[in-house]
Amino acid sequence: MIEVQGLAKNYGSFAAVQDLSFTVRPGEVLGLVGPNGAGKTTTLRCVAGIIPASAGTVRLAGHDLRTDPVAAKRALAFFPDEPRLFDYLTVRQHLAFVARLYNVADHEALAQPLLEELEIADKADQLPGELSRGMKQKLAIACGLIHSPSVMFFDEPLTGLDPLGIRRMKDSILQRARAGAAIVLSSHLLHLLEEVCSHVLILKKGRLIAGGTIPDVAAQFSNGEPGVNLEDIFIRATGGTEN
Ligand SMILES: Nc1ncnc2c1ncn2[C@@H]1O[C@H](COP(=O)(O)OP(=O)(O)OP(=O)(O)O)[C@@H](O)[C@H]1O
Ligand SMILES: [Mg+2]
Repeated sequence: MIEVQGLAKNYGSFAAVQDLSFTVRPGEVLGLVGPNGAGKTTTLRCVAGIIPASAGTVRLAGHDLRTDPVAAKRALAFFPDEPRLFDYLTVRQHLAFVARLYNVADHEALAQPLLEELEIADKADQLPGELSRGMKQKLAIACGLIHSPSVMFFDEPLTGLDPLGIRRMKDSILQRARAGAAIVLSSHLLHLLEEVCSHVLILKKGRLIAGGTIPDVAAQFSNGEPGVNLEDIFIRATGGTEN
C-alpha cells in the first residue's frame, strides 16, 4: 500500500511538485504521466525517500517514511531511469551484495530464477562494463526485486528494452501486482501503460491534472466520444507536450 498526502517538493524557490495526494492499494499499478519536466521523477524520488519532500506525508506498507524510514525503505524498491551499478562487481555479485544489505536469507536460490526471468543468467559472471544498456537496466531491476518488495517505484522502466524485453517487463510488473505489490511507474510509452496500469495520474508543471482508473479519466476527457485512448487523454489534459 502506498499512501501519499499533500506531497510537495521545492528546488529553491521553484515548485517542482505541489499538493499531490494518491493511494495505490496492493494489486494496483499506477501510471504517472505528464510532459517532460512535469515532476514525475521528482515525485518518485520523494516517495522512495531518495530526496526529502518539502511537505506532505508518505506511508509505505503502513510505515511513515519520515518517522519510520528503515521499515518503509525495507518494503520498497526504486528503479531509477539511469541504473547505477558497481563497476567491479559481477552480475551475480551485485545480487549477493544487495541481498546481504536487505538480510535476504537464501538469496542464491532466489538469484538464479530472477536472472533467468530477466534473461541475464548467461551474463552472471560479467561486469557492468561488459553489459549492454538494456542488460544493465535488467540487472538493476533484478537487484531491486531480490528482497521481494511490496511497494515498487519504476521511473521509465521500459525505455531501452527490446520488444521482447518490454513484454517480459510488463509481465513481471503484472505478476508482482497480482501477487499483492503496489506499483507506481512513470513512462511516456502510453500505449504500454494502458496495458499495465489500473490507474493513472496526469501531472503538468508539478500539479495533478487528472487521476483515477483509465476509464474514469477517459470519461473525463472524452466529451462522450467512444474509443478515447490514453494518448488522446494525455494531449487533451496537458494541451500538448510543451511545458
Ligand atoms: N535537482 C534539481 N534542482 C533543480 N530543479 C530540478 C532538479 N531536479 C529536477 N528539477 C526541475 O523539476 C522539474 C521536474 O523535473 P522532473 O525530473 O521531476 O520531471 P519529469 O516529469 O521526470 O520529466 P521527464 O519526462 O523529462 O523525465 C523540472 O522543471 C526540472 O528542471
Ligand atoms: Mg523523469
